[in-house]
Amino acid sequence: MSVVTVARLPPELAPLSGAHYSAVELDADDRRAFVLDQRLLPAEVAYQVVESASAMAEAIRAMVVRGAPAIGIAAAYGVALGARAAADLGPEAFVAALEAAAAELRATRPTAVNLAWAVERMLHAARTARELVGPERAARLAAVARELHREDVRACRRMGAAGAARLPDACTVLTHCNAGALATGGFGTALGVVRAAVAAGKRVRVIADETRPYLQGARLTAWELAEDGIDVTVISDGMAAHCMARGLVDVVVVGADRIAANGDVANKIGTYGVACLARVHELPFYVAAPWSTFDLATPDGSAIVIEERSADELAVVGTRRIVPEGAHVLHPAFDVTPARLVAAIFTETGEVAAEPGAIARAYAAR
Ligand code: MRU
Repeated sequence: MSVVTVARLPPELAPLSGAHYSAVELDADDRRAFVLDQRLLPAEVAYQVVESASAMAEAIRAMVVRGAPAIGIAAAYGVALGARAAADLGPEAFVAALEAAAAELRATRPTAVNLAWAVERMLHAARTARELVGPERAARLAAVARELHREDVRACRRMGAAGAARLPDACTVLTHCNAGALATGGFGTALGVVRAAVAAGKRVRVIADETRPYLQGARLTAWELAEDGIDVTVISDGMAAHCMARGLVDVVVVGADRIAANGDVANKIGTYGVACLARVHELPFYVAAPWSTFDLATPDGSAIVIEERSADELAVVGTRRIVPEGAHVLHPAFDVTPARLVAAIFTETGEVAAEPGAIARAYAAR
């Protein structure tokens, strides 16, 4: 499949992200999605032009776009592109075509529940749009996908405000991976907390774990905070303990890929270690995530499927192999932080304790 890239979004497209860049956007005519190729950052800003559900699935699988809410939105746009291709089929065939597209998109990455959540919402919309005539069906599904994107940006802004209230007026926040505008529809979850605090006049510095092996912290968190003029310092993952021991960190804020009913949090590999370190150093460890990241059907973290990614992502840096042939390599892409290590979860409806009763009540009232 040949991939077309462009250096910027089309001028007539007003990004829903609210920034001058966006992880993913749908063109005004609903025919093409633009996916920022995060593998190239920070060296290059380039968007892949994606025209089909299958091409979107490949972009998610290859981590052109990544981050739990962002892959949910990308998948929703993928289903919308599928609806355009299937618009002239009969009602049953239309739904069947979108179910096949949804299955392909859902299978790309197993841990982030936002992906399955967004795809399910699009399938519901497809079923209710089946009796519409061709172009109206496609337009309906594109509208639902855009609404899902807008909702995510609103949620990020609200959870940002909830989290910002918890940050001291002057503080250093340590974060892991990238839970920013690039990982969401815009604004970010953990980095949304930082942005909201800065906007409220607080003096916030960020320490970003580089986040081996994919380097989301070094490449992406540092890039987007620097774009906003927010003070950011990158450390290697092994330096977090030292920085905490030296009093260089006040608060930890991270995002999440799936939160179980009991408050256990799956997030980028290494997050659990950071939470343990925060406990030892008596620092608050906060999680920022929208309700679309909660999975109340999963009782606790032991039931969360952890994505295993290719050994080469760890063993090869650039073009150079850094692990000898013959050595085994393990690459779980996520880990689970037990609820007891989480001080609070910031959501779009406010702060929630990482505890089953509180989560169930807040979920029902959301
Ligand atoms: O493998 P990735 O880059 O998709 O993992 C992303 C993370 O773990 C993020 O911390 C998480 O999705 C939260 S994003 C708001």
